[in-house]
Amino acid sequence: MAALTLGQIWARKLLPVPWRLSGPGRYASTNFKAADLQLQMTQEPQKKPSPSDPLVFGKTFTDHMLMVEWDRKKGWGWPRIQPFQNLILHPACSALHYSLQLFEGMKAFKGADQQVRLFRPWLNMDRMLRSALRLCLPSFDKVELLECIRRLIEVDKAWVPERVGTSLYVRPVLMGNENSLGVSSATRALLYVILCPVGSYFPGDSVTPVSLLADPTFIRAWMGGVGDYKMGGNYGPTVLLQQEAQKKGCEQVLWLYGPDHQLTEVGTMNIFVYWTHEDGVLELVTPPLDGIILPGVVRQSLLDLARTWGEFRVVERKITMKELLQALEEGRVREVFGSGTACQVCPVHRILYKDKHLHIPTMENGPELTLRFQKELKAIQVSWTHWGNGIHFCSPEKVSPEHLD
Ligand SMILES: Cc1ncc(COP(=O)(O)O)c(C=O)c1O
Repeated sequence: MAALTLGQIWARKLLPVPWRLSGPGRYASTNFKAADLQLQMTQEPQKKPSPSDPLVFGKTFTDHMLMVEWDRKKGWGWPRIQPFQNLILHPACSALHYSLQLFEGMKAFKGADQQVRLFRPWLNMDRMLRSALRLCLPSFDKVELLECIRRLIEVDKAWVPERVGTSLYVRPVLMGNENSLGVSSATRALLYVILCPVGSYFPGDSVTPVSLLADPTFIRAWMGGVGDYKMGGNYGPTVLLQQEAQKKGCEQVLWLYGPDHQLTEVGTMNIFVYWTHEDGVLELVTPPLDGIILPGVVRQSLLDLARTWGEFRVVERKITMKELLQALEEGRVREVFGSGTACQVCPVHRILYKDKHLHIPTMENGPELTLRFQKELKAIQVSWTHWGNGIHFCSPEKVSPEHLD
């Protein structure tokens, strides 16, 4: 009870909520409130990795996690920040059987000023809510969840690594917790958030290019499907293809779609081509969000940045292998790269397509645009604390509801 009172006072200081909407008198509800946050600190803090330890992605976890339970009758429970711990699940849990599960991935960065900044987190909140509705999992208030995440990061702030290129990866999860084998909407759910300190994807200021296997017999997403949602079910089946790519000497999969072999995504990244289009105009092109492309936060940020620069045409349009082959033949391709939270921007130097290795001259061309995007993003992530029009970036210290739409 003491922890509860402390949690409420502490949280209310950060996000004022009218007293009627918070506290024990609040009616069990369709939303949980950051003002109700309860805090239970771990009694067994783990040893933090030293700056020289290699931080393998997703293997090291911080001391605490956020947990909120939902029940169709009672609504959302109070959010808790609690010691990092295992989940106890019924063997029939619907997330395990039918992939009633979705997740998010975003990063927080520590700047030289010791401030920790989350990169455009409301885009992740938007995407997460969209996925929740698609899976008939409970809806939630994005502002409240983001405030709870901000508090969690503050509790584990000492875990945010400081070296250039490192960050704290934030993994929110929402899963059905129905103890039944019937395929139906869940009447119970768990929302939780865990944090991982992660190392630099590319050492130093360099970037290492990847090679891609483009095999049209395998499809990641299709029209009318759920490839444009961030759900666990989309990822498990890709592991085999990743192995197949590696067997053929490639690092990642280039996902093609349709009889015209459209380029859609690269592994778990969006894809961009920087070239002179066949009409002679220099452009940056990425496939449109037409139902098979995940709306990436970095994808959106690259489009926003490039549009702000106004130096070349920026377009969301279908790209086919035939167009790419022709552009390669005519020497019009400057760079091909993927974008995603893990690597930010990752150059591509080779594509294995129809048993032919296509050389992509990304590295010979600098890669000028890839490095420029990397540099701009990095600068923003460690130093901007800015709300406003255009590209928005925030410090976890300053989450404010009016900035979420
Ligand atoms: C299939 C897929 N495409 C693209 C992305 C990139 O999205 P973001 O920029 O939000 O990390 C991801 C990242 O998780 C992904 O899984």
